[in-house]
Amino acid sequence: MAEAGPEGEREIGHYQTATTGGIDYASVPWRLWEKSKRLFWNPADIDFSRDAADWREMTDGERALVAMSARGFMVGEEAVTLDIIPLLRCMSDLGRLEDTMYLAMFTMEEAKHTEMFRRWFDAVGLDPSSLDALAAEQQAARGRPGIFDGPLTAVMRRLDTDRSPQALLDASIIYNQFIEGVLAVAGYQRWDETFLRLGDKLPGLQAGLRLTQRDERRHIAYGTYLARRVLAENPGLWEWFEERWAKLTANLTGGYGADEGSTAQDGARQREARELAELYQRLSKRRLEALAVARTMRVAEVDASAIEAFEPEELQHVG
Ligand SMILES: [Fe+2]
Ligand SMILES: [Fe+2]
Repeated sequence: MAEAGPEGEREIGHYQTATTGGIDYASVPWRLWEKSKRLFWNPADIDFSRDAADWREMTDGERALVAMSARGFMVGEEAVTLDIIPLLRCMSDLGRLEDTMYLAMFTMEEAKHTEMFRRWFDAVGLDPSSLDALAAEQQAARGRPGIFDGPLTAVMRRLDTDRSPQALLDASIIYNQFIEGVLAVAGYQRWDETFLRLGDKLPGLQAGLRLTQRDERRHIAYGTYLARRVLAENPGLWEWFEERWAKLTANLTGGYGADEGSTAQDGARQREARELAELYQRLSKRRLEALAVARTMRVAEVDASAIEAFEPEELQHVG
């Protein structure tokens, strides 16, 4: 657990695996690492051949709906792949070996999600850059920068120079609670509705999304573990967290899918946007509750919790 010196030099006895204690197999990040190894999958193994056939049969409207959702997820996965790095380096610098090892796996999983979506585009023969104009239009309609266009990067890069409990908590808030626990989970529920409407088409994409959610279940668990640990140790940060969360989630309307692309005359879309806003609010409340329990916990209790205690119930069906 020793930190590297200012020049990065390391002394005999620095390496945790070479000490008597060795690896903490009971730690939460280690248990998540074990689970990740058991549930390993390869995006290149997914068969997208029926997706390509289905794609040719779909209407333009169906194709636009699926393509824009897939694009949204794909760029989000690429953004989180790149932006997890400061947290990984932070844990490495703090000498937290189990966290570092799990975060290396976490990073690879985000990279696999990115690959999965791009392979799908390639399989159906759609160049995602053909969606640029539509994506720009949607962004302009939102009237504010998206979370992946600056805010996430800023919060994560803060960890390069600030390893305070508040900075770590903020990383979990933005990355794991907000993006993974609210935006993505709501997005998966929208995918379920889309596939239902399409009549069970695109089996490759459906399989890829299921595998992605299984990984995200552990990612949210890790972030929740991290946040609970910080809050158990620093209960004074709770008020700051509550304010931060309220501000972050206040303007959540149908940012993904429902309020995109269409106009006020479309009543069905308005209803969808309302339903999505309600879903966002429900999920936001769930994440708030998931962290609130830490206010009365000791750090040792957080460390001793089963990993299921950190996993969001909304993703428990994916295994
Ligand atoms: Fe992901
Ligand atoms: Fe993730």
